[in-house]
Amino acid sequence: MSTITVKVPDIGDFDAVEIIEVLVAEGDTVAVEDGLVSLESDKATMDVPSTAAGKITKLLVKVGDKVAQGDAVAEIEAEDAGDDAPDEPAEDSASAEADDATKTTDEQAAADEPEATAEEAADDDADGEPEEIQVTVPDIGDFDAVEIIEVLVAEGDSVEVEQGLVTLESDKATMDVPSTVAGTVVSLAVKTGDSVAQGDLVATVRTTGKTAPKPEKPAGDDKPAAKPAESKPPEKTESSAKPAPKPEPAKPADDTTRSKVPAHASPAVRKFARELGVSLAGVHGSGPKGRILKEDVQQHVKQVMQQGPSGGGASTVAAGSGLPAQPAVDFSKFGEIETIELARIRKLSSKHLHKSWLLIPHVTQFNDADVTDLEAFRQAEKDKHAAKLTMLPFLIKAVCHAIDKHPEFASSLTPDGESLVMKKYRHIGFAADTPNGLVVPVVKDVDRKGIVQIAAETAELAKKARDGKLGPGDMQGAVFSISSLGGIGGTAFTPIVNSPEVAILGVSRNEVKPVWNGSEFVPRTILPLSLSYDHRVIDGAAAARFVVYLSDLLSDYRRVVL
Ligand code: COA
Repeated sequence: MSTITVKVPDIGDFDAVEIIEVLVAEGDTVAVEDGLVSLESDKATMDVPSTAAGKITKLLVKVGDKVAQGDAVAEIEAEDAGDDAPDEPAEDSASAEADDATKTTDEQAAADEPEATAEEAADDDADGEPEEIQVTVPDIGDFDAVEIIEVLVAEGDSVEVEQGLVTLESDKATMDVPSTVAGTVVSLAVKTGDSVAQGDLVATVRTTGKTAPKPEKPAGDDKPAAKPAESKPPEKTESSAKPAPKPEPAKPADDTTRSKVPAHASPAVRKFARELGVSLAGVHGSGPKGRILKEDVQQHVKQVMQQGPSGGGASTVAAGSGLPAQPAVDFSKFGEIETIELARIRKLSSKHLHKSWLLIPHVTQFNDADVTDLEAFRQAEKDKHAAKLTMLPFLIKAVCHAIDKHPEFASSLTPDGESLVMKKYRHIGFAADTPNGLVVPVVKDVDRKGIVQIAAETAELAKKARDGKLGPGDMQGAVFSISSLGGIGGTAFTPIVNSPEVAILGVSRNEVKPVWNGSEFVPRTILPLSLSYDHRVIDGAAAARFVVYLSDLLSDYRRVVL
């Protein structure tokens, strides 16, 4: 075991580059080439990779620090020093590789002998004569065969000095190749997907006279003239990348990319997004200066999974519904916000409710049931049995009888909408409010059970629901559902039919009210009922008959045993 100090490698013509992200923590185990920190200059974002496999013993930098080539980033207790010399072997090997890479690319650049470099243009251009300048890939550090991920201009476009022509991306860095002169793009030598190295021709630009400021070069350094770090950042906004009148239309691929601001993200995040197949163009960046973080990509994926692939914008359509998707609104513009992920049950129930609400043409029929006698009986009996008698088991049993009389309330439409499936079993669901959201447990074979047994089962199912212990079998097979909010309050509501059922009974809080009996007002206990139904299956008259019949049963519960 030996301690390796990982240093900032040759990062091209950049110094005092800011650390925008620290990708590891002390104690983390890393492999060779794992990114340790992300750096960002005006023109490039790049990761500093680990030169050794092992455990991070010390982080020597933090977010916001400025670093240059050779600055120490972290100390690593190397798993196996291998052939490395004990004294900072990683640095030595990295430097050696960097030198080799520079030499190779410099030699290559020299061999290519471009017709005119920016410096030559700067000299030659003093007389203002237009000239064709070849813009080549500048010194991009220890990178070769770097992919072009975006072409930012088209042939015929006017460009400014320092305006980005293409964006390159390696697995460690993204960077723009800026134009070294102001002028018109005469020809593009590359396209998206091409791999380039230092010195490769990117575009030919006919000058208008302005050239990039002459870089200060150390003696003996004959790197190409374009020095991104020594000049102002190109402003890749709509206006700076605007297409000038062109002799020919731009290629479609370029058209789709060149007019928008490229996503701002570190190479590690770009790689992560690529692995998930996520286009960063649609991801909202929550990092400094709108930079896209790994969490933003994760959040984006979650959002897409929940809303369907088209859920990202107001102009798109929600999958299958034919309705516009909910637009993403940045509420933080208006004040402080907190985003809380929905519980699993709420996610599932909200989808189901939305589907039911969209698929079913709902109508709600209201009625009041006089439950004075039933309530008196219930109060007298409620604590005398194995289970407490609330109104719910009486309602479940009465609904079962009402369905026997009106069997279409226990039916489902076939998916083609051509037939009704009539269900001969009598399983009744009831909505239960739980800390994690709404669930609908089901009491099976209500027609074969007495009130006390139904009371015991609803109490047990409600407890299981609140404890999150309902199994799938506890929530399946209902022919009709009841949603009772009587224990909470309210006068009436319009419940959503629990598709593929065709009706649901909403029950609100009973109240003692004065009722005219023909000769006087008498106090009666009135239970408000709200019957929502699928109008494709149930006519308004049938719904009114059902709810009146049910009210009569509740008014004189002896009818239930007939
Ligand atoms: N009017 C007046 N009081 C009522 C009532 C009504 N319609 N329904 C129930 N109550 C009373 C009960 O009798 C009980 O009072 P008591 O202890 O004095 O007898 C009290 O309210 C609490 O009853 P509760 O514990 O809710 O039992 P329940 O059997 O009536 O209901 C659930 C059980 C599981 C249905 C109920 O707890 C629940 O979760 N309801 C919410 C359903 C929901 O969220 N629906 C909305 C779907 S969109």
